[in-house]
Amino acid sequence: MEKKDLQKKQAGTAALTYIKNDMVVGLGTGSTVAYFLEALANSNLNIIGVTTSTITSKRCSELDIPIVDIDAVDHIDITVDGADEIDIDLNGIKGGGDALLMEKIVAKNSKENIWIVDSSKVHKTLGLFPLPVEVIPYGSGQLLRQFTAKGFSPQLRCHPNTTKPIITDAGHYIIDCYMNTIDDPYSLADYFERQVGVVEHGLFLNICNKMIIGGDTVKIKKSQ
Ligand code: A5P
Repeated sequence: MEKKDLQKKQAGTAALTYIKNDMVVGLGTGSTVAYFLEALANSNLNIIGVTTSTITSKRCSELDIPIVDIDAVDHIDITVDGADEIDIDLNGIKGGGDALLMEKIVAKNSKENIWIVDSSKVHKTLGLFPLPVEVIPYGSGQLLRQFTAKGFSPQLRCHPNTTKPIITDAGHYIIDCYMNTIDDPYSLADYFERQVGVVEHGLFLNICNKMIIGGDTVKIKKSQ
């Protein structure tokens, strides 16, 4: 197994420590979460899952992890999710796997959020990973023009080697903004939240409570 995958597995497995019987658990999306799901399925824990994508729902049904619709529960105790990039204040970029909207809805409705990452994801500031912005297809070309004018070097996310836009689980497009560095993530988030046609952006600010970084020694960082 490659170092990165090994670290993802270490982080995913370590997250199990925080799961207790009868919890309602938000289940994120991505290759790191896949290791967490496996560990969960192999444990004796009885939980109810709330998923963040059709791909995670499918994996849960393969692994016999019980899941319910988000609106069937009155709370989510804890959510375990991956991240594409995370800074030292535990702010992050998510959405590399197309699932940012449902991930943010589940995260915002969770009492606690744990992110599991390999060490390559942790940076002093955000922006190296292109920032995904989920948009309504109608008028998305106008948003692309607008983001270009702002210097965000946007690209419509398409299926590999095609010009066919990917469609999210909620029926939207994703525009990736190549920012390089994000000096002020809060004002950037505010900008995207004010644009008509933007459904949600991949800046997850002040959401993560604990980050678990895989490695020889699994590191855990808690928010202040
Ligand atoms: C899904 O849209 C993303 O937010 C994922 O959580 C993120 O891309 C992490 O994925 P990996 O664990 O596959 O790196």
